[in-house]
Amino acid sequence: MKPKIITLTVNPAIDKSTTVRGIKPNSKLRCETPIFEAGGGGINVSKVLQKLGQDSICMYLEGGHTGAYFKKLLNKSGISQEPISIQGVTRENLAVTDLSCHQQFRFGMPGPEVTTEECNKTLQHLDPLLTEGTFLVASGSLSPGMPLDFYARVAKLAQAKKAKLILDTSGEPLFIGAQAGAFLLKPNLGELSRLCGVTEISFTDLIPLAQKFMANNPCELMVVSLGPQGAFVITQDYHEHINAPVVYQNSTIGAGDSMVAGMVFALANHKSISDTAKFGVACGTAATMTPGSQLCTIEDANKLYEYIQQHPATKNL
Ligand SMILES: Nc1ncnc2c1ncn2[C@@H]1O[C@H](COP(=O)(O)OP(=O)(O)OP(=O)(O)O)[C@@H](O)[C@H]1O
Ligand SMILES: [Mg+2]
Repeated sequence: MKPKIITLTVNPAIDKSTTVRGIKPNSKLRCETPIFEAGGGGINVSKVLQKLGQDSICMYLEGGHTGAYFKKLLNKSGISQEPISIQGVTRENLAVTDLSCHQQFRFGMPGPEVTTEECNKTLQHLDPLLTEGTFLVASGSLSPGMPLDFYARVAKLAQAKKAKLILDTSGEPLFIGAQAGAFLLKPNLGELSRLCGVTEISFTDLIPLAQKFMANNPCELMVVSLGPQGAFVITQDYHEHINAPVVYQNSTIGAGDSMVAGMVFALANHKSISDTAKFGVACGTAATMTPGSQLCTIEDANKLYEYIQQHPATKNL
């Protein structure tokens, strides 16, 4: 039987994207008709899972007129939803591509204020949905007003139900959440440095530092993503480097979320740890082949996965 997958996005956004020819200060910039998409870490993970043919339940906080529109946008995708209504207004982010230089400018808003009662309501809503073996993906930034230990509280709920938490966030919420315990962490190098309390990490000390963190904290599996250099998959007694294939690159937006989705998909389909990381790298790299904020396609992901399986990782990293 396939385990249940829940994604949790506490600070989702309506992602607005548009184009303009030439960005200059103090002038009216005439943009093309914008595209509106429901976005946020867990939302993107659910979208990729759907492309891979895997059901998930998408839990998120929403409020105000933008919250209503967010729900409508997500309704179109057909993904199962568990919206939690809040008083604040769902944020809108903006990405503008300047066609004259092919550069994208991304403006991220902080998100609405979330009260203590709303945090408690979220946890109470999540609790009965968790069962033994459920994969819970908590991904993205916290909203203003949320306590820094919010993901730690999520981790405790998951542990109590024997659910498997996959935590993908950054800064203090990651640090505190990871200490509370996660089944899988997917830090990039900067996030791993924060977890390990060091300013910089080289490839030579990455594995001992990650293993030390796992020895001191309840975390079973770590996949450290390295952008174009792929990823390291690390457990207490095993590590492997997975190369990212060289591809024609369009935009790295969504690479991390696509990677997490690929790994959850593989785990839910009982793949080995090595194959899970390989499929994650395949999905992450596939996301870099699509333009703008588009996530990976299943065709690219499967082709890259086959390539990665046939080309063992470099030994000297
Ligand atoms: N330039 C690239 N070329 C090939 N693959 C890439 C590139 N950038 C990212 N990837 C793929 O995506 C995966 C995740 O990327 P990255 O390490 O940048 O994650 P991240 O920092 O969490 O990204 P995000 O900003 O999306 O959260 C990598 O392990 C790799 O497989
Ligand atoms: Mg990331």
